[in-house]
Amino acid sequence: MTTINNARRRFMIQSGLGLLALSGMPSFLQAMEAMKEMPRILARKANPNFKADVEFDLYCKPSKVSILTGAETQVLQYSAVLKKGPKETLVDIPSSYLGPIIRLQKGQKVRIVLHNGLSQVSVTHWHGLHVPAEMDGHPMYAIDSGGTLVYEFEVLNRAGMNIYHPHPHEATAKQVYQGLAGALFVHDEEEDKLELPTGEYEIPIVIQDRSFDEQNQLKYVRNKHDRMLGFYGDRILVNGQSDVRVDVASRAYRLRILNGSNARIYKLAWDDGTPLTVIGVDGGLLEQPEVKAYVMLAPGERLDVWADFSGRRVGSELILRSLAFSGVLPSMAQGMGNMMQANALPVGSDYPIFKVRVTQSVSDSPKLPAKLSSFPRYHTKDVANPEKPVPIAISESPMAMLLNGRAYADNDFQEFERIKLNTLQLIEIFHAHGGMGMGHKGGGMGMMGGMMSMAHPIHLHGQQFQIISRSVSSEKASDYETVRHGFIESGLKDTVLVMPGESVRIIKPFQDFKGVFMYHCHNLEHEDMGMMREFLVE
Ligand code: C2O
Ligand code: CU
Ligand code: CU
Repeated sequence: MTTINNARRRFMIQSGLGLLALSGMPSFLQAMEAMKEMPRILARKANPNFKADVEFDLYCKPSKVSILTGAETQVLQYSAVLKKGPKETLVDIPSSYLGPIIRLQKGQKVRIVLHNGLSQVSVTHWHGLHVPAEMDGHPMYAIDSGGTLVYEFEVLNRAGMNIYHPHPHEATAKQVYQGLAGALFVHDEEEDKLELPTGEYEIPIVIQDRSFDEQNQLKYVRNKHDRMLGFYGDRILVNGQSDVRVDVASRAYRLRILNGSNARIYKLAWDDGTPLTVIGVDGGLLEQPEVKAYVMLAPGERLDVWADFSGRRVGSELILRSLAFSGVLPSMAQGMGNMMQANALPVGSDYPIFKVRVTQSVSDSPKLPAKLSSFPRYHTKDVANPEKPVPIAISESPMAMLLNGRAYADNDFQEFERIKLNTLQLIEIFHAHGGMGMGHKGGGMGMMGGMMSMAHPIHLHGQQFQIISRSVSSEKASDYETVRHGFIESGLKDTVLVMPGESVRIIKPFQDFKGVFMYHCHNLEHEDMGMMREFLVE
């Protein structure tokens, strides 16, 4: 049903036949009302009045790359051709299926023309960027095979690492898995002044997991567990390569880490006990560095790490690992002895991500700035709804992964999903009692709720938010102990990992742009199962 609606809506937007196409549909009135606010993209053309500083063509199409020894792997891949702007805007990652690194400056006006060279519909979303709703890559704008879509926006974000990836309805997970994703960096003056490591000393680290068959081809979802729990590969790739070793000089580096996996959650730490020095998260630099024994990184989240190899001998090695932790998968699923036990790389086990080797000794290294940035803090006293947080109730059952009691549907805004423009909203993300209903929390967790409950990285489109508080139910406290020191609350975020039994309060601004902004689980299999809803900012 939702598929049909969505296809219709696209047709209707593109053809301008909206009202005719919709007549007779049960959601007629509702849809018509929302239609008034919907921009008609009508084969959206470039706007001649939009004076772009940067302009490029972005292609997505099938390709072949060498990942494992032997046969090449068929993938889907982004590529880009710069038409206007600084040549550093686009940087290819050699022999990787990942799309080129896109580097933008705050304040730039950007025009991107997406060309769909896939055999299926697609649309690209700029995860982390604050752009108008119609430029955000909502599934309603998905274009058919052979189609093009023009995006035009000004870069309003502060410096930070963002992601671009497909967002078509019910096909995001598969398209990302097959290779469609890339890193998008924004830079600004505040960041420039810090003189952080750049060039070869600033290294993107995109962590993904994949499974391959004997012919070196990607294997994807095999059964309903793979959907319900999310798909977990048995091999870690970094920037699209396996068994990665990064050669470094004995000085400080800036590692720009992104969890680009569909479902896998990592607990990142250096293997020799050196703490991780974190200088930024999803929404850019922290005010000051945070030193952590380990950091949790869920799909969609980013981490900016200061890695200082000064004083290390040539030939010495250091490994970034994912350490053991527990509790992110449902205890029931584990009890059933499902595929997770069969996976060569069980979730929450201890395994290496990549290796660093010091190959060159240098005497000079930049120093870590004590103060990194400043940004506005949000306070509960400034929110529009201090007594009535907007709920994001997570519920999961073998049949359905839901937010606020409903699966994704077009133009299906519940009262609290309508948000007044230019307000700050208090939002509470929590597990709904027993996996049922919405909007109210039970005291304890029902038997089913407790056993089915799993971790979900909840992502909200639009502006970055601030985490206000986290609390966890006593039933889940011991599992939670294995992850609790791995969260960073001092920075701006767009994705937050919500553990079983956990409630998280955030404050999020809804400024500048009216329209539809999605919120969903960034476990991409969950997203495609309908664990996605939208806010209508009006
Ligand atoms: Cu990275 Cu709506 O997603
Ligand atoms: Cu996003
Ligand atoms: Cu989820």
